[in-house]
Amino acid sequence: MLILGIESSCDETAAAVVRDGREILSSVIASQIDLHRPWGGVVPELASREHLEKIEPTVIEALDRAQMTLEDIDAIAVTQGPGLIGSLLVGVCYAKSLAWSRNIPFVGVNHIEGHVYSVALENPPVEYPALALIVSGGHTNIFHVPSEGQYKVVSRTRDDAAGEAFDKVAKMLGLGYPGGPVIEELAKTGDAGKVRFPTAKISDGRPDLSFSGLKTAVARYMRENGIEASVGRDEPSQQIRDLAASFQAAVVRSLVGTMEKIAHEIGPRTLIVAGGVACNLALRVEAEAAAQRLGVPVYFPSKHLSTDNAAMIAAAGHYHLEHGETGDLAMTADITLRLQNLDNEDAELRRKKVRYRL
Ligand code: KG4
Ligand code: ZN
Repeated sequence: MLILGIESSCDETAAAVVRDGREILSSVIASQIDLHRPWGGVVPELASREHLEKIEPTVIEALDRAQMTLEDIDAIAVTQGPGLIGSLLVGVCYAKSLAWSRNIPFVGVNHIEGHVYSVALENPPVEYPALALIVSGGHTNIFHVPSEGQYKVVSRTRDDAAGEAFDKVAKMLGLGYPGGPVIEELAKTGDAGKVRFPTAKISDGRPDLSFSGLKTAVARYMRENGIEASVGRDEPSQQIRDLAASFQAAVVRSLVGTMEKIAHEIGPRTLIVAGGVACNLALRVEAEAAAQRLGVPVYFPSKHLSTDNAAMIAAAGHYHLEHGETGDLAMTADITLRLQNLDNEDAELRRKKVRYRL
């Protein structure tokens, strides 16, 4: 089955052609990072306008690179949510129109499930049960995946997503946007043992994550030690490099420590680490070490597939299409889409006034 994947949930317009959910024939990503950089973050209005401009040429390029025409495509998979509403709508409307005009099936895909499937394209098949840590700019969750297509959130962030914490701390340190890659680069020449930031403990005992306290701890450390943010073209100071390394180490410790603890309880046969923050080498090294201690493989996507892309959407869409799921023309973008279809405890948590983000 040849699937055209389309992704436009945030600041990347992407299209890909994938065969049978595993073989990438093409994957094109038009990044908007340069457009948003002057504002220090994604501006939703600018993002949706840019998607409108880029969606058609991106799809055409993906078909060209795969040496295909629309006639060869069997089905379309498009990100339905979560994400920015204006951005999502561009991809969803485009995909629906294309599928309607060609009279082929299409399916709406949960963006987070797409990140889970990003490891399906370049690794051996996932063995279940699996434990998946999805860490991006908008989301930080650990999913128990007892069998393919079944998800239970076993850990979530109570405040900031891990990527968001990288972005905010980079801003505080005067390092620009997006923060993850800059912090990782500076951390290479910094001393990660310089500041031992504490890992957040959740008072109700749930194995959840929290990064906003860490962000405050970095701000306090800067203030108390008279560390100024980096300005302009100046080379960041050694103090800033040490802070970047120490902050990164604390995030990685928290993510991998939580995942390993949960893995001891669940006994997964595969670990998955995906999402934009999975580009981070320090995270990969520590997750690899944890997997070795647990005696199971850990699968990561390559860099191209870690940040938002359409190949992962096509891969996830393949699973749903194979199971007979297709969208109808009433399907629309849904920013509230959640990835959880097992023992859904969201309502219970809300009743207990547990504040969290999925
Ligand atoms: O998955 P993604 O492209 O978009 C969302 O769905 O959010 O993730 C983007 C996030 C940004 O917050 C960015 O700072 C972070 O991933 N990121 C990294 C690295 N590369 C990107 N974080 C840490 N280290 C990196 N090397
Ligand atoms: Zn993403």
